[in-house]
Amino acid sequence: MLILLPLFLQTNRLAAQEFVSARIVCGPWIQAAGETEFTVVWETTAPAVSWVEVAPNDSSHFYACERTKYYESVYGRRPVNTLHTVKITGLTKGTAYRYRIYQQALLLNEGNKRMIFGEASGNDLLEHRGYAVTTLNAARPECRFSMLNDIHGNDSLFRNLTKDILRHKNNFMIFNGDMLSQIESPQQIRNGYLKSAGESFAPFLPVYAVRGNHEYRGAASYDYMRYFPTSTGQPYYTFRDGPAFFIALDCGEDKPDSDIRYDGLSLTGRLREEQAAWLKKVVASDEFKAAPVKIVILHMPPAWKDSNWHGMKEIARLFMPILNEAGIDLMLCGHLHRYLFLEKGEAGNSFPILINANQTRVDAVVDSRRIHLSVVDAGGKILHARIINSKLTF
Ligand SMILES: [Fe+2]
Repeated sequence: MLILLPLFLQTNRLAAQEFVSARIVCGPWIQAAGETEFTVVWETTAPAVSWVEVAPNDSSHFYACERTKYYESVYGRRPVNTLHTVKITGLTKGTAYRYRIYQQALLLNEGNKRMIFGEASGNDLLEHRGYAVTTLNAARPECRFSMLNDIHGNDSLFRNLTKDILRHKNNFMIFNGDMLSQIESPQQIRNGYLKSAGESFAPFLPVYAVRGNHEYRGAASYDYMRYFPTSTGQPYYTFRDGPAFFIALDCGEDKPDSDIRYDGLSLTGRLREEQAAWLKKVVASDEFKAAPVKIVILHMPPAWKDSNWHGMKEIARLFMPILNEAGIDLMLCGHLHRYLFLEKGEAGNSFPILINANQTRVDAVVDSRRIHLSVVDAGGKILHARIINSKLTF
């Protein structure tokens, strides 16, 4: 017994260390950013309650005073989760804020009888100033962003394409679909690209994620919207930054929903129909009409003579008649794993369509008159450059 006691104590000590706090395993990443709000998402090693503290991006230490707390909240309660989603509201447009994420593990849950929480922990502030993110601003003269798509879980490519992105003075990032080939587990999302994003730009730059056809696939594909919440609660949404109004659309599956590979679970045709009804309202809105520049983000391009699978044909049938009459300046797509620039009229389109390849990044600078586009490889070489004159609809 005397011999075994040190081992017993050591085992208990290890167990206590393992469970006393919930550590950050991925993130944070910024979602659903607008002029007065953004949402912070991150994952922890153990189930925990969570909150975010927000401070001005001034010279004060984060611990200079008590900071405003925003709790994760679901229907009036604080949930105990490993994936945390905290919405920050009441902010000022075009303003930088510092924030710190916190979590507190639930060690023992005996319901009404007893709940014991571990120590609270969060991202380190003794060495760092905390994360800083800037809200969107329709009044700024230009907006800058970069777009990736069709990464298909190639984390090293993702790292190479994004390693210098914080130097670009971007306002946000776009993931335009098929970032994984299928979503079988949360670990696959982390290892495929999201952990790398959380270790570099995603705590600082809002990410607008658009679902590709491959994100419909896999056992954990149902969790997609939990990882990438939007302002509408749907996989289609809008946002405005600088002179540009963005419409993010969900492409659905590429094959008919009845295809045997979908096991009878696919209803993406219905989703496209719902989106078309929503899209008509969007393009009729004053906010859309008032924007000098209008950009659509959609993983699959519409069908044309060279490429006409079912999903693309449905996009051509349902979305394009609405968009062609709406004064769109540019559509950004992926899916085909090769670069194409479709001029007006090539695919029944009244606006140009840039289709980004699977090994390149699109960098964009938008002002009220022009959209500057560069397609860059992982080595930083510019492969294609285009300047698009906006329609100046007002
Ligand atoms: Fe795709």
